[in-house]
Amino acid sequence: MLISPSILSADFANLQAELDRVANADWAHVDVMDNHFVPNLTLGAPVVEALAKVSPIPIDAHLMIDDPDRWAPQYAEVGARSVTFHIEAAADPVKLARTLRAEGARASMALKPGTAFAPYEDLLPELDMVLVMTVEPGFGGQSFMADQMPKVRQVREAVRRSGGEIWVQVDGGVSAATIEQCAEAGADVFVAGSAVYGAASAADAVAELRALVAK
Ligand code: DX5
Ligand code: ZN
Repeated sequence: MLISPSILSADFANLQAELDRVANADWAHVDVMDNHFVPNLTLGAPVVEALAKVSPIPIDAHLMIDDPDRWAPQYAEVGARSVTFHIEAAADPVKLARTLRAEGARASMALKPGTAFAPYEDLLPELDMVLVMTVEPGFGGQSFMADQMPKVRQVREAVRRSGGEIWVQVDGGVSAATIEQCAEAGADVFVAGSAVYGAASAADAVAELRALVAK
């Protein structure tokens, strides 16, 4: 069970300090948005490179961008240890996943709430993680979509059948109130933005989330 706080809800003027606040987490989730794939704009590879150099924990880059075939590999090159592309935007996901792995990163595919998993099940051998979005990508602080839990179960079942060591991540509205149903459905990597950075102590919030799924 791995906790990956999203710095989307952190203080963007103090990102190094914000990463240090969650040093007890497993990964640091960095949301890259291009104002095309989603209606919001955050940061790009130069910032990820700077964060990777100072972060006490590895960077989990979530790319909400068009044309990941062209742009995703550079996030692996600059030091993101996990790179997630959206399947809705990828032209050649097999080639892209292989490129990411060749760069030394974990290769991960994300599914928006309206995107079914079944058409992409055959990609599992190329992947290290599947991200099931539990909000529409683009913004932090949205309400958790419990209707995505059947998809989490479906992905977990397919991962079991495949025999691969593939992680199942959930992202969006994950909090103390919702994390247990995600774990019960089969998720093992939990992204939380506002639930961590909105808490008085981000480290305590990470510990609380971890305790809820460690049972
Ligand atoms: C949304 C991002 C999430 C976001 C989650 O598009 O992918 O990572 O930061 O924020 P919360 O946990 O507040 O829903
Ligand atoms: Zn994200």
